[in-house]
Amino acid sequence: MEGRKQIVLTGHSTGGALAALTALWLLSQPSPPSFRLLCITFGSPLLGNQTLSSSISRSRLAHKFCHVVSIHDLVPRRSSEQFWPFGTYLFCSDNGGVCLDNAASVRGMLHWTGTPNIEEHQRYGHYVSSLSHQFLISRSFRGGNISDNSYQAGVALALESLGISNDVPSGVSAKECIETSTRIGRAPILRSSELAIELGNVLPSRLEIQWYKESCDASPKQLGYYDTFKLYSNQREMRVNLSRAKLAKFWDRVFEMVEKNELPFDFHLGKKWVYASQFYQLLAEPLDIAYFCKYIYSRAKGHYMENGNRPKRYVVIDKWWKGRGEPNKETRARTRYASTTQDTCFWAKLEEAKDYLDEMRSESSDAQRRYLLWEKIVAFESYADTLVTMKEASVDVLVKKSSYSVWVENLREFKFKMGNGIEMAVDESDAMET
Ligand SMILES: *[C@@H]1O[C@H](CO)[C@@H](O)[C@H](O)[C@H]1NC(C)=O
Ligand SMILES: *[C@@H]1O[C@H](CO)[C@@H](O)[C@H](O)[C@H]1NC(C)=O
Ligand SMILES: *[C@@H]1O[C@H](CO)[C@@H](O)[C@H](O)[C@H]1NC(C)=O
Repeated sequence: MEGRKQIVLTGHSTGGALAALTALWLLSQPSPPSFRLLCITFGSPLLGNQTLSSSISRSRLAHKFCHVVSIHDLVPRRSSEQFWPFGTYLFCSDNGGVCLDNAASVRGMLHWTGTPNIEEHQRYGHYVSSLSHQFLISRSFRGGNISDNSYQAGVALALESLGISNDVPSGVSAKECIETSTRIGRAPILRSSELAIELGNVLPSRLEIQWYKESCDASPKQLGYYDTFKLYSNQREMRVNLSRAKLAKFWDRVFEMVEKNELPFDFHLGKKWVYASQFYQLLAEPLDIAYFCKYIYSRAKGHYMENGNRPKRYVVIDKWWKGRGEPNKETRARTRYASTTQDTCFWAKLEEAKDYLDEMRSESSDAQRRYLLWEKIVAFESYADTLVTMKEASVDVLVKKSSYSVWVENLREFKFKMGNGIEMAVDESDAMET
């Protein structure tokens, strides 16, 4: 491993499952391996559920697994009642072989009703010796032009090579598996180029929000776009709300397709999508927070960042952004404020801090609670201070009448009014703890 050689892990039967587990373990180490890894199993039982299978398909890891399975082998087939396949499957029989890499199709193939027998489980030596020939067949089937005729011919050839006749019912379902797998293999690329066009189509919506932010930043109201959107429901806010909803719908759909493995497995590693989603989030999440606070928030529902209130798409975008695999360019100090606040949950955190300060001011809680509140207030104050000092906040945070500026002012007054009062509260609760 340290010499960065290629490593091939392999095994037969349970040994194949062990090889795959070992490969998964190596691949899931905190720092990605510097060596190339390939795992080849023979007659291995399947070993994970659907969640594992789809997360492997979504990562760049699926192509590192090749499972050789005789279509008459009982062992893989039995385990497929419980588990899901991942990686590429090379199904073989005496007549040849075919490769499938779509999990549902592999599953269908494993369920294909032939007559399984346990002797087949010991015949992989035989299959290995004719493997190169089978690879040639599967290559010519999968690659190149798939015009209708050559496509049909390819499917027929693949079926024939497995010794499955097109005429019997089981042959028909095996044919469907192969066709589905091929269709699914090609469709993601088509879908992702369609999405790229749709991304262009929602651009006006993003520009509308951007323009809204800029005009609020320049407005004599000095409110910023977060607070303006929260306070007003004029025609302009309606339009912005519509754009907000359109963009959310688009991105939700993208992530739904990713979730269902309908896009290329490395889709989320594409720079274009990572940056487009990040740019969308920076601009739109503050409006989603404003909308949440205005219409949805209640004590029972909790704050934006609690109880799964935050839309899942932002959690995914955060993950993409962190995992974009670019070494962090040395962060040069900003010389001016960011065009959008870099922590998209800033406003949600502020809303919580507002509550804490209000409760503190109402003097309705006991000493211990007040101690806790004060800790949270101080933590937010210092976090926001840093954000502003580093110029990672946008100007809309700092305009005179933004919720943030008002909060800072309220806090200052409160501190002034309390004088030593706070420290008293802290002392009391210290005393209580001891
Ligand atoms: C798969 O297994 C993992 C780990 O046990 C579990 O968290 C997950 O919910 C399972 N998924 C399904 C679809 O059963
Ligand atoms: C593949 O299809 C294209 C367009 O239909 C055609 O121009 C080309 O000659 C085909 N190539 C092969 C190898 O059949
Ligand atoms: C804003 O958009 C949401 C999502 O489409 C919609 O449900 C809601 O009615 C709109 N609100 C207003 C005030 O227009």
